[in-house]
Amino acid sequence: MFDKRAIGVFDSGLGGLTVVKELSRYMPSEDIIYFGDTGRVPYGTRSNEIIRRYAREDAEFLLKNNVKLIIAACGTVSSVASDIGVDLDVPFFEVVSHAAKSACNVTKNGKIGVLGTSATIRSQKHAEYIKSILPDAQVVSNSCTVFVPLVEEGWYADDDPIVVETAKRYLKPITDAECDTVILGCTHYPVLKGAIKSVVGDKVTLIEAGTSTAIAVKEFLKENSMENESCNVGKHSYFVSDRPNSFKNIASVLLGKKIDDDEIKQVDISKL
Ligand code: DGL
Repeated sequence: MFDKRAIGVFDSGLGGLTVVKELSRYMPSEDIIYFGDTGRVPYGTRSNEIIRRYAREDAEFLLKNNVKLIIAACGTVSSVASDIGVDLDVPFFEVVSHAAKSACNVTKNGKIGVLGTSATIRSQKHAEYIKSILPDAQVVSNSCTVFVPLVEEGWYADDDPIVVETAKRYLKPITDAECDTVILGCTHYPVLKGAIKSVVGDKVTLIEAGTSTAIAVKEFLKENSMENESCNVGKHSYFVSDRPNSFKNIASVLLGKKIDDDEIKQVDISKL
């Protein structure tokens, strides 16, 4: 038994590619269709109603492309709009619960930091999941509004002074509280890992949602006989709602491989 349809992944922009990277590491034979809503990024500063509407439209686009499963590779959508998954005709995965579970497995002192967008931190979703596993955990959260524009602009070098100074300011409450584990609660943030690590030091573990989500999806496909066993290397297609060229340049860095012109297309999400 196998299912040759692609896995659908969406995010507000480039960040979800950090999840795609992990999906292709764990499931190299799966086809992936990615939608990055580059015309409407960022989501994290918007109201829950708008985020929910955008997320629903993004999922609709993927469904029209006949995907077998949808991943909201976006901490913001996962925090405030994961209920959109209930009405979809295909299985839906968010990224927050998986990251929270990993953090609970890793922490030794029960002090967990959470970095995310304003909407994500406002939702307190990570804290909710963490407390359901470790009721006595101390969760220190901070919203990092400037991180997403830095990444979308291509400013993420480990030693870029602007990135390091920004990271220092956002991480202060978390380092002051001596958290031993920090969740990168937005899928854009793994790109800033080097700079964040230089601020928190080697003893603090950084948790990315991509790895644990990819493992959960792999297990789900296996259990439900939905794996694609028909090829060795899956095909990836990328769709964006604006600026395909700037997406392409930075995307190659995030994915660690070149994206060809014919792999990326611009779509008008409002006309679907
Ligand atoms: N990658 C999204 C997230 O994980 C992006 C946030 C945004 O668009 O503000 O939250």
